This record gives sequence, C-alpha cells and structure tokens, in this order.
Amino acid sequence: MDTDHLFTLTADPTWLLRIDGFDPDYEAQAEAVLALVNGYQGTRAALEEGHPAARPATFLAGIFNTPAAPQAPELEAPIPELVVGPDWSQVQIAIDGTLLRLDQVELLEQCRTLDMARGVLVREWRVRDAAGRITALRSLRFASLANRHLLAQALEIRPENYSAAIVLTATVNGAVTNANQTRHLEALSSAALPGAPLVLRTRQSGYLIACAAHALLADVNGAVVASSTEATPTALRQHWQFTAGAGQSFTLQKLVSIVTSRDMPDPTAAAAAHLREFQRVGLAALLSEHSAAWAERWAATDIQIPGDAALQGEVRFALYHLIGAANPDDERSSIGARALTGERYRGHVFWDTEIFVWPALLYTHPQTARALLMYRYHTLDGARAKAAANGYRGALFPWEAADTGDEVTPDFMLSGGERVPVLTGREEQHIAADIAYAVLQYVQATGDPGFLAQYGAEMVLEVARFWADRAERDEAGVYHIRRVIGPDEYHETVDDNAYTNHLAAWVLRRAAALEQALQALPVEWPALAERLQLTRAELEQWRTVAAGLARGYDPATGLIEQFAGYHALDPIDLSGHDPSVATVDARLGWYAMQRTQVLKQADVVMLLILLWEEFTERDYAANYAYYEPRTSHDSSLSPSFHALMAARLGLLADAERYLRKATLIDLDLYRPGHAGASGGVHIAALGGVWQALALGFMGIQPTATGLRITPHIPSGWGELGMRFTWRGSRLRLRATPDGKVTITLEHGDPVQVAIGAGPWEEVTHDE
Ligand code: BGC
Repeated sequence: MDTDHLFTLTADPTWLLRIDGFDPDYEAQAEAVLALVNGYQGTRAALEEGHPAARPATFLAGIFNTPAAPQAPELEAPIPELVVGPDWSQVQIAIDGTLLRLDQVELLEQCRTLDMARGVLVREWRVRDAAGRITALRSLRFASLANRHLLAQALEIRPENYSAAIVLTATVNGAVTNANQTRHLEALSSAALPGAPLVLRTRQSGYLIACAAHALLADVNGAVVASSTEATPTALRQHWQFTAGAGQSFTLQKLVSIVTSRDMPDPTAAAAAHLREFQRVGLAALLSEHSAAWAERWAATDIQIPGDAALQGEVRFALYHLIGAANPDDERSSIGARALTGERYRGHVFWDTEIFVWPALLYTHPQTARALLMYRYHTLDGARAKAAANGYRGALFPWEAADTGDEVTPDFMLSGGERVPVLTGREEQHIAADIAYAVLQYVQATGDPGFLAQYGAEMVLEVARFWADRAERDEAGVYHIRRVIGPDEYHETVDDNAYTNHLAAWVLRRAAALEQALQALPVEWPALAERLQLTRAELEQWRTVAAGLARGYDPATGLIEQFAGYHALDPIDLSGHDPSVATVDARLGWYAMQRTQVLKQADVVMLLILLWEEFTERDYAANYAYYEPRTSHDSSLSPSFHALMAARLGLLADAERYLRKATLIDLDLYRPGHAGASGGVHIAALGGVWQALALGFMGIQPTATGLRITPHIPSGWGELGMRFTWRGSRLRLRATPDGKVTITLEHGDPVQVAIGAGPWEEVTHDE
C-alpha cells in the first residue's frame, strides 16, 4: 500500500515549522510549539515511543479538576487546573526485544515538521541500535479540524539492513498525571470491557472522558497484520508481532475518538459510534477533510509578507495556533494563557483572551469570537457573585477563570525564591471593562444586534453597574478607583490606574447609551431594564461617574500618568535588560521593584490603542516616548502592542524590532531562562502578532462608520496582504511600503473604508 502521500509536506517552506535533531533539554519547548490543536483538544508533540524528556499531554478544552490538596508548596489551597488527558498516540516499538527509544538507540537523523497549512505533524527519523541495525521511521499525527473528536496517527517502520521480529504496541494511556504529579483521572470502573471505549473520570470535578481507538497494521501490499487487544481500566492496547525483512515497510494507521461529558451526558456510546464512522471513512479521506477544513480557515486568516520568508513563517506559526486555540461550537470554555499546549497558568483564562487573542478571531472567524463571549455570558453569575463578595453591585469577572466562572487566581506565587501574595485576583479588576469592551467591539464588527439584545447588553450593563458602585467620589466631586492593579502588574494596590479608569469611563458611557442602541429592537430594552432593575436615574449616575473619573491626563503635554503617584517613583535604567536572562522582579526583589518606575508590560500604551479615537497624535507620541524606555517587557504580552503602537506612529525600526520580539517568544527555542514555550505557547503574544500586523502595520482602525486604514509597511516586506472580515463581508487588503493600499471585496455587502485621513468610500464588488 503506497502511504507516501500521508507523509508528504506542503512544498512552500514558509508553511512549515521544522525542528531537526533531538535535544532533550529543549524537548518541552519543541513539544509545545509543534502541538496539534483544534480548539477542542491540544496534543503536545511528544515522541510517540516515549523518552525520559518527553511529557506527552493531551488537553481537552474546559476539562478542569481541583485536587483534594494544594498542588504546589507555595499554595494555601488547591486550585483548578487543566487536566492532562489520556495519551492517545503512544506507540512502543521493539526489535528483537530492543526498544527503539531515543535514549536506548543512536539517533542518526530526525526531522519533525509541523505542516501549518494542513495542521499535521510529520516526523521522519532513523536510528541504529547496539547491534548495528538501522531502522527508518516516519509518523504522521493530526487532530481533525473537520471533526474535532477525531485524532489520527500513522507510523511507518522500515528495517534498512536487517530482518527481525518486531513488536509494536499502540496504547491509549489513561494512567497519566499533570507535570506536578497530580493524578486527576481515575478509572470509571474496576473492570474493562474488551472492545469498549476507555472511560475515565476527573476525580473531583467528575467529568467523563471516553476514548475509543482502533489501529490497523499493513505491509506495503496492504496485507493486514493480525493484532491482539488488551483493555485495562486505564488503558487500551493493541499489539502486533511480525517479521520484517530489510527494505520492507509496515504502516500502522490508528484512529481515536474522544468525547467527554461536556459534550453530552453519556459520551461512551458516542465515542464508539464516532470511531465506527471514522473507520468507515478511513484515515486518508479523514486527512483530506481535515486539510480542507484548515484550508478554509487559512483562506480567511492568512497574512502574506512575501519579502521576508523568515517572518512569514513566524507569522503563520502565530496564526496556526490562533486558529487552533478555540472551538466555534463550544460556548462553555475559553482560551487559557497557554491555550491547549501546556500547563503553565494551569489552563486559566485571563484578559489575554479578549484583549490579545480574540481580535484575531473576531476579524477572521466571528463565530469563534462569539462563542468565546458566550463563555463569559454563561459565567456572568460567577462575576456577579464576585462583585457581591467584594461588596459591590453588578458583575466583576474573575481575573483567572476556569470552567465555572469563579475566581481561581492562586493566593501565592514564588518570585525570585520569595513567597509573594498574589493580589491580582483581588485587584486586577480591569478585566471587567476588558470583557465589556470586547462585547461592544463584537457588536461593532459584526452588526449582530441579536447578540447585543440577548446577551451582550446584559454583560455591559452589569459591568457598568459594578464600576459605578466601585468608583469613590471625593470632596471635590472627582471619582476615583482605588486599590487596583493595572495591566502593569509590577505596581500593586495603586489608585486611579489610567487604563482601568479610562476603560471604566468608556464602558459607563457606552452602557448608558445602550437604550438608544437597542432602539431598533424596541421590545428588548424594557424587558432587560426590568430584569436588571435599571432605572433612568441609574443610567444618569453612570454618566456622572464616567465624566468625573480621574484620568491622570496632562493637557499641557498629553502625558497620562499611569496611576496616581507614578511620576514620583524612582527612575530605572533598563538598558541591556533581557527578560529571558532575569526579570526585573527577580533582579531587584518584588517590593524594591515596586518603588521604581519599571513597567512589566504595556499599560498606558494599551489604553491608547484600545481607545484610539479618544486621543490625539500628540498623545500617542508623547506617551509612547515616555513609557517605552520604562517598560521591561517581562510579560510576553508587551512587545506586540509596542509593535502595534510604533507601527501606527510610523516608527518602523521600533515596530519591526518589537514584532520580531513577539514572534520569537515561542520560536526562539534555545533561549535560557523561564521565557520559553515549555509551559505552552504564549497565545496572547501570538494574538498580539496578528493585531500588530492588522491594526498596526496595515493600520486598520475599526470605527462605527467603517474601517480607516493607514498602512506603514517596512521596505523589506515587499507588501503586506491579509483578509479582514467586517460585518459579514470579507475584504482582501494589500499594502506596499509606498503607502498604497488595494482593497477587494471578496464577498458580502459593500464596506465603508477610508484611507489615511481621506474621505469614506464604499468598497464594492468589481464590476
Ligand atoms: C501578565 C498578565 C497576563 C498573565 C497571563 C502575566 O504575567 O502580567 O497580563 O494576563 O501573565 O498571561
């Protein structure tokens, strides 16, 4: 059977992420960047046959568990974490009793390639054992984007210079733990039913995970080798024993279905039925469907930078992980800080989702953006409870969220060896405004009034109500939001963080105007107002608070003070600072650091970008010039927004430098320190890359009227090309370094576009 086509890669290398050789020290990072993701699950690219450095992990969106005891010594109480699910792609290979594992045989060559165009991972390697036997192997794995319950694997083995008895064992292994050794899964029953799916249950949260699997092994003529199967309460195994001669290849094709009780109450029968269907279709056809699904997403998402092949590849890496981060059909889970590619931050959901990742989805695949907002809607009661627990009305979304919408921020962390209380769960409240902001961006970008009326307005109104209650009025009539942490987490318990106050004021104003916005749907407002017991007087109060909130804005210079008292802090010299060597908190200590002006990440700069229309050219320039030298970029969220701002300001050297910092956060695999991707890809940074390109370099500024586009394209790029979805229409945009923009309406209604400071014009279909 000719199986070459299974392993054939896309020809253009800018679609491929390739890692050659094997270095156990960096294997954890390789596993994350090469992960197979489809928004339902993420599988790290661990070597199939195992290795002491391998950390195989499959994560299932929304499957969290809180163990009985704290997972780390610095924690006071256990916290939910994303569960490492069954390892579905384990294959043990033994030649006359010798395991073909890279720690037991000599690796002659290896190349692992993530084909981002098709979402497949192809590995080719050759090994020599102590007896001098050389074996060539190839494998393919994918997690289908066409049917997210499908996982598939092919493995070809070919003895080069010997003939021997080979034993293969393909396993779905449920006896797994998280990296901190916590065992979250238990067998559902003490006995296993032969031929039935493997069913596991998360020990405390009680989610069921059902996996069904079946593999076929065939020789080059398609003759199937008989197998024996074995089922235990925590594993499914299939064994083959056969003799292969020199040059004879055998190929294993394995199909796995995963269904959980998040999908349906009884996932076991569904897993079995899915598998039967997958077997009927067959791996090759399933691969074609999967590739077609990726092609469809790429058609709306790809960005072209023809003049810079390295950057082109890095950008596609970002887009690949963004496409794979979320599932448009799942309204009850969201994207964790490392998506489904690693355990750092325990899979928790932060503002990273709405402010960094989400715009890329909003403007390429609005269905996914909507599903993510629905996750917040479904957890609104948790946000109401958090506000109430803090003594406020309205809704305060959790700084860190998991599956329930409860606040799950840990109480302590280790910083430079010190056990430091984590205040973000209490004080980093801007997330409430961030989510309301996203809701209103969604409405603007999609014109989906149904969403606003049914779900969005309620979120915005409840968040506004929180801010109005949260703000404190002083004797002079100025409103303050005291004791918060802004985006820059290096300063805690500050008053009047400008980002927080400006966003809160904006949300209050927009919320107070919602009645008008909903006028097109006259029945909605009275019902909503009654349900939330909203009065005109309360809306009026919101306008008063919005107008009175401290802004920290100096009209003489345009400078915005990051928070009250920031300017008086000690200056800091960050020249030569490299976060991958040591972050500022590790160098200075947590408390000493707070007395300086150092920023962990963009803060006022973020504010300017989010509320662009509220500020002027002078404001952007003054604040960028002031804050940029004070920013350490110790958070991976920082460089992309500096790239975006610098690009909008036409500071292209800065913009390109920051863009590369952002694109390389995960891809610079061999960097020292904590900064790598071993704990999963930095999905917020990758979302920031999309924003830097679309909103910065292409200079797209979405407004209530339409899109204002002011490109700044580096000369080395040749051009920048992308698609942009706006109110159901899809535009194709191309801009060149001379500032010329070509816009084509690919489908949908005409779109209002203005170039630079030019007039609004309608982009219609070519005649
Ligand atoms: C950053 C936050 C971010 C979190 C998760 C922190 O280091 O300061 O802004 O939300 O990481 O990515």
